[in-house]
Amino acid sequence: TETHMPKDKGLDHTLKLLDEGYRFVTNRSNKFESRVFETRLLGEKTICMVGEKEAELFYDNAKFSRKDASPDRIQKTLFGEGGVQGLDGEEHHHRKEMFMSLMTKEKLQEISSILREEWEQEMKSHSTGEVQLYQAAKYVLTRSALRWTGTPHEEEDIPEWAEQLSYMFEAAGSVGWNHWQARQYRFMAEERIAGLTERIRNGNVEIDKDSPAYQFAMHRDLNGELLDEQTVAVEILNLLRPIVAIAVYIDFLLLAMHDYPEEVKKLESADDMHRFIQEVRRFYPFFPVAPARVKADFTWNGYTFNEGTLTLLDLYGTNHDPDIWNKPEQFQPERFQGWKESPFNFIPQGGGEFDIGHRCAGEWMTMDVLKTTLDFFVNHLSFAFTEQDLSYEMDDFPPITKSGVMVRDIQFK
Ligand code: HEM
Repeated sequence: TETHMPKDKGLDHTLKLLDEGYRFVTNRSNKFESRVFETRLLGEKTICMVGEKEAELFYDNAKFSRKDASPDRIQKTLFGEGGVQGLDGEEHHHRKEMFMSLMTKEKLQEISSILREEWEQEMKSHSTGEVQLYQAAKYVLTRSALRWTGTPHEEEDIPEWAEQLSYMFEAAGSVGWNHWQARQYRFMAEERIAGLTERIRNGNVEIDKDSPAYQFAMHRDLNGELLDEQTVAVEILNLLRPIVAIAVYIDFLLLAMHDYPEEVKKLESADDMHRFIQEVRRFYPFFPVAPARVKADFTWNGYTFNEGTLTLLDLYGTNHDPDIWNKPEQFQPERFQGWKESPFNFIPQGGGEFDIGHRCAGEWMTMDVLKTTLDFFVNHLSFAFTEQDLSYEMDDFPPITKSGVMVRDIQFK
């Protein structure tokens, strides 16, 4: 039997989305008592979904496609054009393999040890006075990302790299001048990396053959062809940019250390650390929704999905779904003790499979970077938080604390 999907009344709800931010989908899902509903966003009919079963549906490749799913203005800033995010089927699988082949135990250990060195260097340079850790994290991650990918760089260019890479995610949701600045920065960064790709291919640069930059430059598509230089640049930026974006989680990691000192006291084993960073990724808002389009008409639970309809899966809402989580609005790392994870019930970086689905290629790396950072701040450094405004907004993207976490009296243990 067919039922009508609940529908948001009115012409367009984009302003409500901007106002309600991470709570937009949940607010309506609660009001309609339905985990699936229809609304209009940016002038387009849009289906929103939240929950575990809904995530399972969303990640069914037979039902949804990624082609033309993200808005043009997001592609021009955050993702770039022609990258893995917008591919489907075999082409996607093959390109995704290029990313996943980098996520070996060895390569992950490598970024952790680079990161550890960079944190030490950075914090030594702030042994007196106050330091804003969000900003420091962006520098540390920019250096780590360039080193790990093998992208040649000079130390004096680090501020410029950091600025360009962070603008791509910091200004992704903005309009006006910031949006145009982000496009400009993406253009500049793509040019620079396309040039590097050309030099790699001509053998005009000294670069480790195991490095991600070299691997991507020499990657062959399904037809055995090299990717065009612009696409290589987009994909190398799909490594550099999100590595720097882990600064947003580091900001929240430090906020959690400030707000829940009793949880910090419990941190002894590697498992404790693991549960703490998992709860940071669940509890705090970051990536709001994943977008896809209905591949061909189908019916699910009585609701009709029409071909081409834009569909958003609420990642934040699913991580706060009371059907999955006990007391979701409380920060409780111990909830992950004995936790039965499915590919669809804990999805801060998307759900489903890594290889044939669009789940974040960098999820393991993000977890390792957070663990290394937590270990560094808990076990190797002592510091004091200054008086500051640590609030953040549920309608900001990305949501960063007002002060960016200021600390002083830094000492190495
Ligand atoms: C995809 C979140 C870090 C590389 C995604 C998706 C989300 C996400 C939500 C899309 C899932 C979907 O469309 O179904 C995050 C968050 C991060 C992070 C919150 C924390 C900073 C990283 C890192 C890397 C990375 C460190 C690389 C080193 C990618 C790539 C994709 C992706 C390549 C596209 C995968 C595909 O389309 O198949 N990420 N990510 N991400 N992420 Fe991440």
